[in-house]
Amino acid sequence: SGYGGGRGGYGDFPVVRPRRLRTTPAMRRMVAEHRLHPADLILPAFLREGITEPVEISSMPGVYQHTRETLRKAAAEAVAAGVGGIMIFGVPEEGKKDATGSCGTDPDGILQVALRDVRAEVGDDLVVMSDLCLDEFTDHGHCGVLDERGRVDNDATLERYAEMACVQAEAGAHVLGPSGMMDGQVAFVRRALDEAGHQDVALLAYTAKYASAFYGPFREAVDSSLTGDRKAYQQDPANGREAMRELALDLAEGADMVMVKPALPYLDVLRRVADAVDVPVAAYQVSGEYAMVEAAAQRGWIERERAIMETLTGARRAGADMILTYWATEAARRLR
Ligand code: PBG
Repeated sequence: SGYGGGRGGYGDFPVVRPRRLRTTPAMRRMVAEHRLHPADLILPAFLREGITEPVEISSMPGVYQHTRETLRKAAAEAVAAGVGGIMIFGVPEEGKKDATGSCGTDPDGILQVALRDVRAEVGDDLVVMSDLCLDEFTDHGHCGVLDERGRVDNDATLERYAEMACVQAEAGAHVLGPSGMMDGQVAFVRRALDEAGHQDVALLAYTAKYASAFYGPFREAVDSSLTGDRKAYQQDPANGREAMRELALDLAEGADMVMVKPALPYLDVLRRVADAVDVPVAAYQVSGEYAMVEAAAQRGWIERERAIMETLTGARRAGADMILTYWATEAARRLR
């Protein structure tokens, strides 16, 4: 009996010793089930209008609101490190925000400027992705336009997204990430892109985007105007099965890739989604996940680099093909 009997009453127990495969770094490397690769990492980056020096985000040490110049530099560094993609967010001047988020659809709006700059810098060497949402551009900070009672108006918002999608595609985005959690957004945006001749622009659907406390630092990163919350459109953290319903809709609507966000508190959702699809799956390691590790590391409470790689590996093990992470360039360098 392989697992018992023998020496001292227990025979040669234990015959099976999993530790044999953990003996040396080379052995562990060889038998590793999952590997991170620079090309699977996507760097989220912010361009802020009207600044001459980059502004560090206080709750995200090491992450900046970029100037046009430093954004281009960050994109070039990402390419050099072998990073797979960049997800761009625009931060307009405060005075430019309005109820409908006009600067989101202005061909010369800050996000379009960022997309053109980054494409000019990287060409096709980096997948250039664009956040397709209104929250950075509205004076109320919601991800859509409001109805007369102050609720986010789903279908009126879709019209805005359609327009925004075409403007972002014109500006050079390879991939659009509709992140507003409006019903029907993937189908609506897909149709608008196709009608405008942008059949090649891909959609990364924010399939399961939860109303999460872990977006806290991001709100500073984009100078968010939001008061209140997004619980009437983002998913309830209590719901896992509901993510599968969102997934079925996004796939039926034509999503090319799907995403689960945040990552760490939703690894179970990531696994369920990964098991169910035949399209690439992304996880978004959000601002609060970044801040948590950086803050603990600053206090000497956690080993920073190991913790970073462990969280990334965790997302990978749970089924993510790609990971959006503010550590993308740093981690890619370490992996090379
Ligand atoms: C909305 C958007 C958010 C994030 C990405 N896109 C914030 C929100 O839903 O409030 C969060 C990203 C992060 O926390 O890192 N456009």
